[in-house]
Amino acid sequence: MSENNILNSANIPVHIGFIMDGNGRWAKARNLIRTQGHDAGVSALEKIVSHCRDIGIRCVTFYAFSTENWSRPKQEVDHLMQMFSSYMDKLIKEINSGGLKTYKGSSVRFIGDMSAFNEDFRRKVKFIKEKTSENGEEFIVNIAVNYGGRAEIVHAVNEFISENPNKLITEKDISERLYTGLLADPDLIIRTAGESRLSNFLLWQASYSEIYVTPVCWPDFTPEELDKALENYGKRTRRFGGLTEPD
Ligand code: IPE
Ligand code: IPE
Ligand code: MG
Repeated sequence: MSENNILNSANIPVHIGFIMDGNGRWAKARNLIRTQGHDAGVSALEKIVSHCRDIGIRCVTFYAFSTENWSRPKQEVDHLMQMFSSYMDKLIKEINSGGLKTYKGSSVRFIGDMSAFNEDFRRKVKFIKEKTSENGEEFIVNIAVNYGGRAEIVHAVNEFISENPNKLITEKDISERLYTGLLADPDLIIRTAGESRLSNFLLWQASYSEIYVTPVCWPDFTPEELDKALENYGKRTRRFGGLTEPD
């Protein structure tokens, strides 16, 4: 599908969530070590961010590290943490020298339970969020680290209870306290590397998301692969529990 066709389609998603899976399998298939798969995943991410902005997607959320991923071998976890930290250094350097490159014009937010990270890590997250918020809300890039859908809901509920000890909680109360805040729920969730599961990603927000699973591992997920997902999404009928055809 050409870019024009996608832009002209009424069925273009506003918000896409990406479960970037398969870095390890990608590396193994090439006789590389798992961490090299993660490094390759970063280049794929940048190409997808640029493409999404070019075709008019308004918001993208990338699942980079789950609350369960801490159970991996220490060496892999350490590599990932180092990777996130130096990636933020790269963004900060760009911000301080004239503006973001790959993420040009984007509002970039690292989302998840930040209490697991040290002060330096949290300072970087805050700086990037504050500085890039000056770009407005035209194109929002969320990167989910130490993210868990269940933990996010528990956090929202606890926050509500501490503010309103004697009130009953509503869906709206929860929605507006999620890490994704007031953003629209994802219309489409794309998972690479073949598994048909959410793995604790955006559990609350995904209640009516369309799900697209591709066997392609994340480092091989190109803008062309994204266009295939969008073409498939464009043909779907979303009913939200209602009916599309009258009797
Ligand atoms: C996804 O790739 C990245 C993270 C979870 C950090 P994996 O590392 O899960 O790759 P596979 O699933 O083992 O191939
Ligand atoms: C999901 O991938 C998490 C991320 C992509 C960050 P996993 O590899 O952790 O998921 P499972 O273990 O196969 O469910
Ligand atoms: Mg995996």
